[in-house]
Amino acid sequence: MEQVYRQKGYPVQTLSREQDFPKSGIELVILTRKEDAGMAAQLSSVYGVPVILSVPGLKPDVPPEGCAEMLPYPPHPAYLEKWAKREERALDAPKEPSSALNPAGVSANDLMEQMIRQKASKQTFSLRGQTVPFVEPLRPLAKRATILTITGVKGGVGKSTFSILLARNLHQKGQRTVLVDLDNMGNLARLLRVDPIVSTDRFEVLSNTLNDAELEQNLIRTGYGFWVIPKGQRPMGLSADGTRRLMYLLSRYADTVILDTHPSRMVCTVEAMREADVVLGVTGTDRSTWAEIRDFFSLTEKPVHLVLSRTREKPGVLHEISQILESQTGYPVLGYVPEDDKLFEEVQAGEMLMGSPAIETAMKQIRLKLWREDAQKTETEKEGMRTWRFGRSKGTRT
Ligand SMILES: Nc1ncnc2c1ncn2[C@@H]1O[C@H](COP(=O)(O)OP(=O)(O)O)[C@@H](O)[C@H]1O
Ligand SMILES: [Mg+2]
Repeated sequence: MEQVYRQKGYPVQTLSREQDFPKSGIELVILTRKEDAGMAAQLSSVYGVPVILSVPGLKPDVPPEGCAEMLPYPPHPAYLEKWAKREERALDAPKEPSSALNPAGVSANDLMEQMIRQKASKQTFSLRGQTVPFVEPLRPLAKRATILTITGVKGGVGKSTFSILLARNLHQKGQRTVLVDLDNMGNLARLLRVDPIVSTDRFEVLSNTLNDAELEQNLIRTGYGFWVIPKGQRPMGLSADGTRRLMYLLSRYADTVILDTHPSRMVCTVEAMREADVVLGVTGTDRSTWAEIRDFFSLTEKPVHLVLSRTREKPGVLHEISQILESQTGYPVLGYVPEDDKLFEEVQAGEMLMGSPAIETAMKQIRLKLWREDAQKTETEKEGMRTWRFGRSKGTRT
């Protein structure tokens, strides 16, 4: 939204706290969260400007007290013209006496606007001593999150459960982690017991306009501490563009993004596999389900690692099974997640997923393998295995 309005010459600032409001120069306040509607009357009287409530998915309706309008976010730019007082003010604004610094005698207000606009072309500006990013779409990123794509060729093998356990583990280790439900049939919102008010669809509809501050407001914090973006309503999932946009925006925000996908060649699954730093293929130990694995993962050039999920076998047997799996597919096995009755019961009861200590140990081993020595090792032994280095330089997009 900001980009569109800036092109039209309006300085737009995204502020998440009331304390951050500039003292002057505000013409219109747009509240983007329903809970903030109660502030409208006060804001409107303090600043003497109209306040609009504009929330994603909101139906235009009679506005609550203090709000001039109530409409879905983002408000159409043409709509804002209605409220903008630029022309009027330019006429009214007294000219300053011309001086060496201000030869044209531009009014103080206009000078301030010019300044904001100049600053908007930079990446950040300073607001009361705090550095605030201006968001410009699809520029090279200074920071890029690690993207882990969880996928596979079969449903019901434990991909979503594994995604949650991994997100929880990374969060506990201090990583800012966002889990995204890219599965159009997914149920992460239910599993994580959050209200799916925001969905991946937002990244489709607002592909050029969703900005960081809003993103941050709209990510849903789970009881585990990490964040989640529930699935959208689209029967075919996100488009390739929407998927890329999603990862681009989240990249600025998170240390690690975990993408839980639908096990098919759906556009967003394939895109997620291509954008990933590492693809984690989750599979069971049932060999009859392995036939498709090699073909499926040849869709990506990114390093693929397999995770054996819901295992009931003893360690020695598991080792043998993974050797067969590796030689059949050409992809290394990163670790195991044991079948855990406690975990299963927690899911059935709609409780938080904790699992027994064996689950914790398994997840720790997987994390260590992802981020430590093994991950640094260049894998060249087997044909068809990808050469990779997990810690490759950030800030590059391929
Ligand atoms: N490690 C595990 N131990 C016990 N049950 C599990 C485990 N992983 C998954 N499950 C159960 O298996 C079912 C499918 O899991 P889910 O994660 O939704 O699979 P997917 O995402 O691959 O379709 C769920 O009922 C879940 O509780
Ligand atoms: Mg799933």
